[in-house]
Amino acid sequence: MTTPFYITTPIYYVNAKPHLGHLYTTVSADVAKRFHTMLGEDTFFLTGTDEHGDKIVKAAEKQDITPKAYADQISKLFSDLWPDFNIDNNHFIRTTDAGHIAVVKQILQKIFDSGDIYFSEYEGLYCVGCERFYTERELVNGKCPDHETEPEIIKESNYFFKMSRYQKWLIDHITKNPDFIQPERYRNETLAFLREPLEDLCISRPKSRLEWGITLPFDENYVTYVWFDALINYISALGFPDSDNFKKFWPQARHIVAKDILKPHGIFWPIMLKAAGIEIYNHLYVHGYWNIDESKMSKSLGNVVDPYFLQSTYGADAIRFFLMREMVFGLDSNFSETTLIERINTDLANDLGNLFSRVLAMFHKYFNGTVPEIAPGVRNGEQADLFEDAQNTIKEFKDEMQSLKFHKAIASIWNFISKMNKYVVTTAPWELAKDESQKDRLADVIFNLLEGLRVIAGLILPIMPQTSLTMQKHLEINAENALSTIDRIAQWGSIEAGTCLPKPVTLFPRIDTKNPKNKSRKNINQSKKDPKKTDQTPAKQDDSGIKSLPDLKPEITFEEVLKLDLRVATVIHAEKIPKANKLLKLEVELGEEKRTIVAGIAKSYSPDDICGKQIIVVANLKPAKLMGVQSQGMLLAAVGDDATTIATIEKSVPSGIPVK
Ligand code: MSP
Repeated sequence: MTTPFYITTPIYYVNAKPHLGHLYTTVSADVAKRFHTMLGEDTFFLTGTDEHGDKIVKAAEKQDITPKAYADQISKLFSDLWPDFNIDNNHFIRTTDAGHIAVVKQILQKIFDSGDIYFSEYEGLYCVGCERFYTERELVNGKCPDHETEPEIIKESNYFFKMSRYQKWLIDHITKNPDFIQPERYRNETLAFLREPLEDLCISRPKSRLEWGITLPFDENYVTYVWFDALINYISALGFPDSDNFKKFWPQARHIVAKDILKPHGIFWPIMLKAAGIEIYNHLYVHGYWNIDESKMSKSLGNVVDPYFLQSTYGADAIRFFLMREMVFGLDSNFSETTLIERINTDLANDLGNLFSRVLAMFHKYFNGTVPEIAPGVRNGEQADLFEDAQNTIKEFKDEMQSLKFHKAIASIWNFISKMNKYVVTTAPWELAKDESQKDRLADVIFNLLEGLRVIAGLILPIMPQTSLTMQKHLEINAENALSTIDRIAQWGSIEAGTCLPKPVTLFPRIDTKNPKNKSRKNINQSKKDPKKTDQTPAKQDDSGIKSLPDLKPEITFEEVLKLDLRVATVIHAEKIPKANKLLKLEVELGEEKRTIVAGIAKSYSPDDICGKQIIVVANLKPAKLMGVQSQGMLLAAVGDDATTIATIEKSVPSGIPVK
């Protein structure tokens, strides 16, 4: 029996809309959950919103609504966003949920009864942004290191949690469990912090100052400090203390957070659990920060990256892929739209997309869309190599995913993609197809390539679930049977002979960087408008998850493409057309025939430039009169903003021959 797997994200404050940082943590948790499901484990994935405290009150006041009404609005933005990114959380907790409030009170009472909470007067430096007291030592030039504002001096009587009592225990726990906090740099950071005496934690706020919180069960005049309330979500969401989910998934918990909240998770939370007599969670995984174009992402800089824009412009899978591929878990990373587009064009459109359509196109050409039988005895070394590469890739992928090295896990899949491409080149199916005696060998090669695609479809599933599904549909794979677990993915030969497969589609269209519509920096940051209503034309997305660019023309069938009669023509004479500064009149030779074609290329080509060139023309275009000249066809050219470049033929060929 496998160990259950419980993964959580921080619960996000509802004082701001979701942004790229929240998206990254949530996608990481989703990828981890989907991967562990593939390992055959029972999984539970929790995310949600943190809704009490000063910050929320201040944000609500600005809008002139109650904190609850404000929290409802923003919490919904988070819960509505996650399905758009195919986030498969099992539960979405809100700290205003009655069940959560009851558990917080229960834990507070328990710790109070055991004598670890005491009442005392305190004067300290308080940062409203962080909602906590700071020691002089923690400040930088007298200011909060996160908010860069001077803290207020606050003197009041409050309840304190005796964290100092557990300092030694926590140091021992972290030392004895080297993988408790990962990566190691954050474990070291926590231990370094614990070298100084740990101060007791102020866990209450007088209602005279703040009413928006959970009332202490032992004093009506106080509400609970927001962090003490929030951390408990990880157990209240499971139905602490008696539910089956709590018994099953706790203490298997793995919390994913960024480095900003290492201290509450690495110090407060384990001590709270210990003091309440609850088992300690299993792992804390700490990742770095996304910076934007090399600077910190912040509201005041106006560079907060908007997930709604990313999803509607590039599609959920491309963004999930980029986030997981680009950031080394634990280190800071830089986000730029240019790098995003480069990754989409190179890794997704070129490498994965091309391999997929190339293999399926060959399969359709040589086997008419039906998976061939493999004749006994045709297998040779190359087949064994590809099979072995696939097995090694699966193993490497599994190891890297298990230690949250998402970028390495993805790199191992792409390594396999390049091996598949190499296999195509070395086996040269187009050569085998010319020789009838190689038919069995061709069948084997194509079959292996289809199997390789199946393995890729399986491995990308946690990262790009929609694309995996599209690939599965095109390979007629039943995910339940062939891909649901990593062991099944490894079973070479799951695609059955005789199965008919549909024609390939474009998985990821290339993004034209010269097209000004894609130069959208101004749209990438959060607007003040309803985040659901962006000005961007949403990318079209069909149910198979294929995204096409907003400005692509409507899809046409292969039959419609075949109606075009494209031919090579040789330009034998060219001249300007009076009063038409964009047009040239071309005399072309098309086999035996001579034709006149009017082309809008005069700004980029002089008559001398074009004369003698071999061009590609649409030969069956209905003739039309342009500036008084009858044009009998149309030439093909790349039309940029600044220049037009005609499509030519690389090597000289007889004019009139078809272009396919
Ligand atoms: N409410 C607390 C967490 C309580 S958990 C019991 C909180 N909320 S938050 O809205 O500020 O979210 C912080 C988290 O958002 C980070 O730990 C990280 O997961 C994510 N990120 C916010 N900004 C980020 C970046 N710039 N980069 C990466 N992730 C970041 O703290």
